[in-house]
Amino acid sequence: MRTYKIAAIPGDGIGQEVISAGLEVLDQLAKRDGGFRLDVVHFDWGSDYYKRTGLMMPADGLDKIRHCDAIYFGAVGAPDVPDHVTLWGLRLAICQPFDQYANVRPTRILPGIESPLKGVTAKDLDWVIVRENSEGEYAGQGGRSHRGLPEEVATDVAIFTRSGVTRIMRFAFRLARSRPRKLLTVVTKSNAQRHGMVMWDDIANEVAKEFPDVTWDKMLVDAMTVRMTLKPQTIDTVVATNLHADILSDLASALGGSIGLAPTSNLNPERVFPSMFEPIHGSAFDITGKGIANPVGSFWSAVLMLEHLGEPKPAARLMRAIERVTADDRLHTPDLGGSATTRAVTDAVCEALRVDNA
Ligand code: IPM
Ligand code: MG
Repeated sequence: MRTYKIAAIPGDGIGQEVISAGLEVLDQLAKRDGGFRLDVVHFDWGSDYYKRTGLMMPADGLDKIRHCDAIYFGAVGAPDVPDHVTLWGLRLAICQPFDQYANVRPTRILPGIESPLKGVTAKDLDWVIVRENSEGEYAGQGGRSHRGLPEEVATDVAIFTRSGVTRIMRFAFRLARSRPRKLLTVVTKSNAQRHGMVMWDDIANEVAKEFPDVTWDKMLVDAMTVRMTLKPQTIDTVVATNLHADILSDLASALGGSIGLAPTSNLNPERVFPSMFEPIHGSAFDITGKGIANPVGSFWSAVLMLEHLGEPKPAARLMRAIERVTADDRLHTPDLGGSATTRAVTDAVCEALRVDNA
């Protein structure tokens, strides 16, 4: 039996609810499939851990998860801990040392889900956004001096390296080539950011020569928001910087029907380190504990995790079960305008797995 070691880090807020739902569904899937099993190790890291210990995860935390096959992550963020502490103390503290430089965010309009864009259906919107996940404003360069004085100064320096941009560009071209339309849009802001972003454009031109079968174009990030909204059919694969793609992927998830549906993988493509899979939504303290969080983003992230582990059949089976459930609007959670609970959606996906006989 193929066995995979999974580190589960539910983190904060609804992260707890959607990861436990996801693990239930994965358990049912493993039973149904019979060919693989998951050996799940649970970690209670996050804001509560921080309030107890002063750290978001223990000092030797990375060593505890380094040897697992994948990380299944919920969310970080709490109302009473500054966001930059939770983010840098856990999520980025894993992504960066594990060199998970490719953040991949697919968006589709799932069956039964309505896009807020008038007349836009599944055939018009099928995107995957590749977010550079190690550089830009998230590289951690910058500082704050002369605090409290009128001359106080603060900087967040956007870092772009030739090696960092080249590897994400190759990753994006390869991904675009693997999709039927073989179409890539490179997003920058090379009119205003005239150094790093111009280098992105240069490197895009260079790497494109290695992929003559991929059609590609360039967009400025502001114009890209307009294109995503008004001409979603013209887009397939997108690559952008860490910050630009952070923003574009939230827009994408909303246009796909709800941020509660959208999944993410944080990949270390060379597989030197484990990759991490998480729903795109955050800890959502406004609905924490109410049992109404949409678990679909977490389920879809589990699909991406199985694909990464080399289990395409169970991954496809889980995706079918998810789509069967989203197709039924009685099983929509409040973010989709329904009144279903996390429990009901989870049970329905488990049931769909039981009856799936493909
Ligand atoms: C995301 C999130 C994070 C980010 C937050 C939690 C800091 O918005 O994964 O998109 O900006 O990377
Ligand atoms: Mg974001």
